Amino acid sequence: MTSTVPNAVQHADEQQPPITMFGPDFPYAYDDFLAHPAGLGQIPATEHGTEVAVIGGGLSGIVAAYELMKMGLKPVVYEADQIGGRLRTVGFDGPNTEGLTAEMGAMRFPPSSTALQHYIDLVGLETQPFPNPLAEATPSTVVDLKGESHYAETIDDLPQVYRDVAEAWNKCLEEGADFSDMNRAMRERDVPRIREIWAKLVEKLDNQTFYGFLCDSEAFKSFRHREIFGQVGFGTGGWDTDFPNSILEILRVVYTEADDHHRGIVGGSQQLPLRLWEREPEKIVHWAYGTSLAKLHENGAPRPAVTRLHRTAGNRITVTDANGDIRTYQAAIFTAQSWMLLSKIACDDSLFPIDHWTAIERTHYMESSKLFVPVDRPFWLDKDEETGRDVMSMTLTDRMTRGTYLLDDGPDKPAVICLSYTWCDDSLKWLPLSASERMEVMLKSLGEIYPKVDIRKHIIGNPVTVSWENEPYFMGAFKANLPGHYRYQRRLFTHFMQDRLDEDKRGIFLAGDDISWTAGWAEGAVQTALNAVWGVMHHFGGATDATNPGPGDVYDEIAPVELPE
Ligand code: ARG
Repeated sequence: MTSTVPNAVQHADEQQPPITMFGPDFPYAYDDFLAHPAGLGQIPATEHGTEVAVIGGGLSGIVAAYELMKMGLKPVVYEADQIGGRLRTVGFDGPNTEGLTAEMGAMRFPPSSTALQHYIDLVGLETQPFPNPLAEATPSTVVDLKGESHYAETIDDLPQVYRDVAEAWNKCLEEGADFSDMNRAMRERDVPRIREIWAKLVEKLDNQTFYGFLCDSEAFKSFRHREIFGQVGFGTGGWDTDFPNSILEILRVVYTEADDHHRGIVGGSQQLPLRLWEREPEKIVHWAYGTSLAKLHENGAPRPAVTRLHRTAGNRITVTDANGDIRTYQAAIFTAQSWMLLSKIACDDSLFPIDHWTAIERTHYMESSKLFVPVDRPFWLDKDEETGRDVMSMTLTDRMTRGTYLLDDGPDKPAVICLSYTWCDDSLKWLPLSASERMEVMLKSLGEIYPKVDIRKHIIGNPVTVSWENEPYFMGAFKANLPGHYRYQRRLFTHFMQDRLDEDKRGIFLAGDDISWTAGWAEGAVQTALNAVWGVMHHFGGATDATNPGPGDVYDEIAPVELPE
């Protein structure tokens, strides 16, 4: 982690291999798989041109569709809302707001997301540092708790208690979760060691909450330390809304540095799926050079929302969409939020084994809200005459706003403020309020922290806001497993290994970040899309090149830990 809390082990040695999202649950090198010249595999020529349904046009669906197209299949993408899913970038409506954007969903990506990075590079997008609390790219940070504010450029500027908390977290991770051992094993891609450490921890900690894990640690005996940690936390800041979640979820985040060194996508993250949709791959089987997903779809657009999914004769998956169109497929990939299968889409029980239905039903999603305003310029960099400090800073607080992010685009140019980004209960507090009501409450909170700053006079357009739990095709922001959910997550993640399922349960493949081990990060969407692509390839009798084994080929050697049922 860059910021509020330094890593349990500071790695001065630059020679060390980097941390990537390699395990701990399924230590497969998706990045090497993608980079290999042999490609992701081949299907028999007799299957070329066969349609495969891809339900959900978020990053996972678009990646899966793109790779299936390259193999010579014909993906048919269904999207209820917009291409991009939770990679959703919007503009503002004021006169001088042209070119300004707000990231309603994914806005910051850790460099450990190396499979994601493959696609960012492929479509030629640039990234830039994201101004998280105390990050290098962040001029200053204010931590405001219990009505007391502290201004800091680095953690050393904060009162001693914050360093004590940081140290307690490091100790707690070391004692309770073998942090430095796992860190080394992940850097070295030492699969047996990763599996050995993780197997013990999964068994020991699947029933434990994040908060319980802190309480069990000698290092966090102090309630006050736990409270401060909850508010300013690690990585990007306060994670106390995750206290009831499984500690395994948090360990995945810290081991993989998912919350560290974040970068944003210049021009907006939605460009990634949109560019993949239009992209004409240089290497493509069966289809003419110049084919793209857009060109394979009528009017260049995905099909509308899926309303019904059922099995029909010959083990086919039959998809009904909002236009009443009914099509039957040999294979389908489902990438939307799993709860859609319970409510928005009429489903046959026979689509999945009963244990997989349980896992879908128990999936726990976090709520999340954001609100952005466009402003005339990055006025926060003005100096306070008395103190010489920035007049306003990236702000972490226990007030309603929780996190405020300042997003400038160069001096004197119009800029954007994310007045508030919240999760869980903190998000639900915003739910009944309109955008302007939300903004009023946020300006009041920030007014208490910055009494000398008139934020309002800089605002040049209407606020834009989202509560993902209120979006009909999402019902939440990202999955976060509760204690006891390990088995459920394992079933969902391993669903692409369909030789293990009864024959009449095959042909539909789950993917998307909620199927992944690291929900809330786009890397999980990409990794599970690649699993599903492997599954579909295998389903059609295809295979990978022997020099580039896919996730299903090496599954037995690296399978996720199994807990007794
Ligand atoms: N990746 C998202 C972010 O950077 C969400 C992370 C939060 N995840 C969680 N379980 N609270 O904000």
